[in-house]
Amino acid sequence: MLEVLEPHFEKEQRIVMPLLGSISNLVSGEKIGNLDEIASAQVPLLKEYEGMFEEHRAIRELIAKAEIAARKEGSEDVVELLGGLAHHARVEEEVLYPSALLAGTLAKCLQPQERIARGIA
Ligand SMILES: [Fe+2]
Repeated sequence: MLEVLEPHFEKEQRIVMPLLGSISNLVSGEKIGNLDEIASAQVPLLKEYEGMFEEHRAIRELIAKAEIAARKEGSEDVVELLGGLAHHARVEEEVLYPSALLAGTLAKCLQPQERIARGIA
């Protein structure tokens, strides 16, 4: 399971987290100096988006198998941990990944306004 999880987590850290980390600045109403950077960060996420859902499908299959084994062994704490992992994947798909995409889209939408404010456009 770790062979699948570790590269997936690394990818999330590399391409999802920077966009999520920009949300508080984007909604602050303050002038943002790195809109280009945030907008550009959306490109790799768009490229990897469907693949990340595929990775979750593979992870869910592994979770299901591990859950069966854990139940046979009576390891309820492992069953609970696996349930938490499956729930986390759903939260990523329904909330975090779309939010990361939205951050990039918002940065793109704000760019012209920033350029106008700076007298560039
Ligand atoms: Fe994930």
